[in-house]
Amino acid sequence: MARKKLIEVALPLEAINKAAAREKSIRHGHPSTLHLWWARRPLAAARAVIFAQMVDDPSAHPDLFPTEKKQEKERQRLFRIIEELVKWENTTNEEVLQKARDAIRESWRRACAENADHPRARELFNREVLPAFHDPFAGGGALPLEAQRLGLESHASDLNPVAVLINKAMIEIPPRFAGRAPVNPLSPNPSPARGEGGAIPLPSGGGAIPLPSGWGAVPLPPRGGGAGGEGALFAKEWRGAQGLADDVRYYGRWMRDEAERRIGALYPKVEITPEMAVDRSDLRKYVGQKLTVIAWLWARTVRSPNPAFAHVDVPLASTFMLSTKAGKEAYVEPILFPPLPQGEGRGEGGVGYRFTVKVGKPKDADGAKNGTKLARGANFKCLMSDAPIAPDHIYGEANAGRMGAKLMAIVAEGERGRVYLAPTAEHEAAAAQARPDWKPEVAMPENPRWFSPPLYGLKTYGDLFTPRQLVALTTFSDLVAEAREKIRRDAFQAGLPDDGQPLAKAGAGATAYAEAVGVYLGLAVGKLSDNASQICSWHNGAQHQKIRATFGRQALPMTWDFAEGNVFSVSTGNFMRQVDLIVEVVEKALCAGKTSNAEQADAQTQSVSTGKVVSTDPPYYDNIGYADLSDFFYVWLRRSLRPVFPELFATMAVPKAEELVATPYRHGSKEKAETFFLDGMTEAMHRLAEQAHPAFPVTIYYAFKQSESGGEDGTTNTGWDTFLAAVIEAGFAISGTWPMRTELGNRMIGSGTNALASSIVLVCRKHSANAPTATRRDFLNALKTELPAALAHLQAGNIAPVDLAQAAIGPGMAVYTRYARVLDAEGQPLPVRQALALINQTLDEALAEQEGDFDADTRWALAWFEQMGFPEGEFGVAEQLSKAKNTAVGGLVEAGLIASGKGKVRLLKPAELPADWDPANDPRLTVWEMVHHLVRVLEAGGESAAAVLVAQLGSQAETARELCYRLYTICERKKRASEAMAYNALVQSWPEIVRLAREVPQAAATPGTDDLFA
Ligand SMILES: C[S@@+](CC[C@H](N)C(=O)[O-])C[C@H]1O[C@@H](n2cnc3c(N)ncnc32)[C@H](O)[C@@H]1O
Repeated sequence: MARKKLIEVALPLEAINKAAAREKSIRHGHPSTLHLWWARRPLAAARAVIFAQMVDDPSAHPDLFPTEKKQEKERQRLFRIIEELVKWENTTNEEVLQKARDAIRESWRRACAENADHPRARELFNREVLPAFHDPFAGGGALPLEAQRLGLESHASDLNPVAVLINKAMIEIPPRFAGRAPVNPLSPNPSPARGEGGAIPLPSGGGAIPLPSGWGAVPLPPRGGGAGGEGALFAKEWRGAQGLADDVRYYGRWMRDEAERRIGALYPKVEITPEMAVDRSDLRKYVGQKLTVIAWLWARTVRSPNPAFAHVDVPLASTFMLSTKAGKEAYVEPILFPPLPQGEGRGEGGVGYRFTVKVGKPKDADGAKNGTKLARGANFKCLMSDAPIAPDHIYGEANAGRMGAKLMAIVAEGERGRVYLAPTAEHEAAAAQARPDWKPEVAMPENPRWFSPPLYGLKTYGDLFTPRQLVALTTFSDLVAEAREKIRRDAFQAGLPDDGQPLAKAGAGATAYAEAVGVYLGLAVGKLSDNASQICSWHNGAQHQKIRATFGRQALPMTWDFAEGNVFSVSTGNFMRQVDLIVEVVEKALCAGKTSNAEQADAQTQSVSTGKVVSTDPPYYDNIGYADLSDFFYVWLRRSLRPVFPELFATMAVPKAEELVATPYRHGSKEKAETFFLDGMTEAMHRLAEQAHPAFPVTIYYAFKQSESGGEDGTTNTGWDTFLAAVIEAGFAISGTWPMRTELGNRMIGSGTNALASSIVLVCRKHSANAPTATRRDFLNALKTELPAALAHLQAGNIAPVDLAQAAIGPGMAVYTRYARVLDAEGQPLPVRQALALINQTLDEALAEQEGDFDADTRWALAWFEQMGFPEGEFGVAEQLSKAKNTAVGGLVEAGLIASGKGKVRLLKPAELPADWDPANDPRLTVWEMVHHLVRVLEAGGESAAAVLVAQLGSQAETARELCYRLYTICERKKRASEAMAYNALVQSWPEIVRLAREVPQAAATPGTDDLFA
């Protein structure tokens, strides 16, 4: 027997969505900074969804919660747990996590007790062992990580080796070496095996271990209380993955210093000469100093299409602005000649140009902003003659091997901020000295939708890097192997036995540990490649000026001017920054919980899901070409880590054939690609329906494309209902559909159902084998009976009106998929699309039925609003309507709802309502007024002002919230965006308004309403 889970009834969506949106701005320690992966799910959503699919809904236990009220109280208790759980700052808050784990266990024990006589009880229902978790499309690993955090043994699989590697780093490695002290010689906790020679004497009373210059110092607490007693080394307690993180930092730093020793000459400092400071007063203080370069900024060049300048390689510069920060502006100024200054320029016959750099606002602001760019894409102008350079000319030049690059500016580290300098011959020459001995030869796909560089002759992944970048990446990649060897020796020295067992074979000794640290160092090289390719550009922003990484979006674009960073600087794009970001994730966000596993598997054939709790986020049609894009990283990760995972990195490039992405270029046509995708996805889903643990629903994320929203009937769109149909076809019944958002704000409200959802979580159960067949009428009757209660649960969870229609599809589809088939009047199966339309229609009716709770004036206003909105209408029509609604136009004027005159009537807008309104003195108080006064006050004075009004309204305020749902639905249907926004915002703010209302001093509240928010 499977009990209903919380996620099948209600969710505190607002709290989840808010936390998910906030999480997007977290940079430090967020697992997304471990390594790039595309379309990661927010941890908040992953955490809440897995929790809610594992805890029982209170309605599943009428014995424990016999009344609706008691059930709602328990539901609210679970909501509170989720609201705390989703906050980023609680990611490692053991108290909060433990509460969630306890709730999961409690439900689990009940499930075990109830299923004691299940035929597979021993295997599936052991009360001491929670079921394991599996995500078969694990990607960047958000879901498996959060399952592990909730106390489950976690399994991640993906077809893509890069994703598998990321998941190993997220969930597999940390528990294996949890609680271990670091092995590096600077660790404050060397093992006794290292003996006296390895000891770092501490100054008495604690202090800091002195480190070589530039390393910072490891702060130590005062001595005493540590193991080992007087004279022994201070013993730090290494929790979770802290020891591992410390080693990643140490050996990352070792790699950086070692690389600098080997190739540092390619990264010369720039000496500020008196000549450089002649026109640049800002440089005077640096004269005689050598500044570290942060980045070299290059412009690609092609021969001018103008025959008069055909011998000049002219720059393709998308901008000449280097910094747009107010007061710190800097820009490149090209200087054309004749006359040719001695020894400069590449032009023939004394014709050419050179670049200089100026500070301050450019006189020709547009010219500086646009560089030599004429229009979007490959459209430029010749610097020498202004002749247009058409894309065809650039293609031709590039593919004939005549695309070059010219140094445009140098960015150096100043005392406080960046210093922008003109290029020098020495620095151009330093770049030309680089001689890489390896480059990735894997070809990029000829698929211009995602890959532009091949159009311009950059055909392989290796072509995306300058020679100096290739030298740096190969050096760092070699050093990963050298670091492993060093770590192995240090680990052994530190007392870790070396059994020679590798990490890939579940080793736990010195060899495996060295490989484990090596994985994070390898990921640092992967991250460096993102920040050190020719696709990186210079962000000249008003706030920050920095290197823009290769993957700003899910594609490899062509860049015309690019930034080549200094991997040894302490500024943007350096190697150590990649290491530090990784260290922060390992230290702060990974959980070193239960032993877990990541492996490569095709979701269409995998059997890892057997008996496991499943939550997954499959690829969506052709949104992202993971396999193609990830080759960019694969080539470097393979070079760095193939000895550690020989099977994972066996192939030259990422396997592509089985990837469930509908790419026409791979499958021959759009139709074939779609068929491949849908068949494959149905098969993958079918496996989940068959294998997943029977006590839990499976949750599946459906990534929603904004362009899909707003089908003709306002409810649906082809992508969405095709996906639903595939999931049902695969053997699932649907029991929930939760819209998840990662954007805050009301921007797109009113433009159609789902306009704000970035994804929808489908909650699915295996379809019952003996489900009955139903007629359309049976289906509709069941909907009418069940949807109002479901709607009440959703509203009790304060679902935002904008999400209501989407969330109500869940309970509606639960009815539809309860049957084997629903047949229409002709005996034909009712398609999903039509079922969705019926669900929406029934929802509308259920909302309309709630009107019974409102007073007569409000019912009149609703009907009028539906027809007219706020503009004027005929008095006669108003009068007629008032009869039907049992009120009168005069009374409505008196009540303060409408204005009437000259044969016309109109509803008053919130802004027109009297500011001194006091509900206690309103003899004809209506719900309509409450809503619109609340809208007025919220807009003018924010949540605290609205709270004062809510305190005055007392329990009646709750009816106002209900009216908002109705009003929102009307606005959405009538496409009245701004009004829809106001009603949605009021509901979204409701929990906070009510919380603040409780704090409003009694004097401000209406007498007799003090028990209202209990
Ligand atoms: C939407 S992503 C998952 C993102 C992940 N939830 C996260 O938060 O980072 C989908 C994943 O499916 C993987 N994939 C595509 N086809 C697959 C297949 N046939 N078997 C297994 N994984 C596949 C892709 O490599 C990609 O990592």
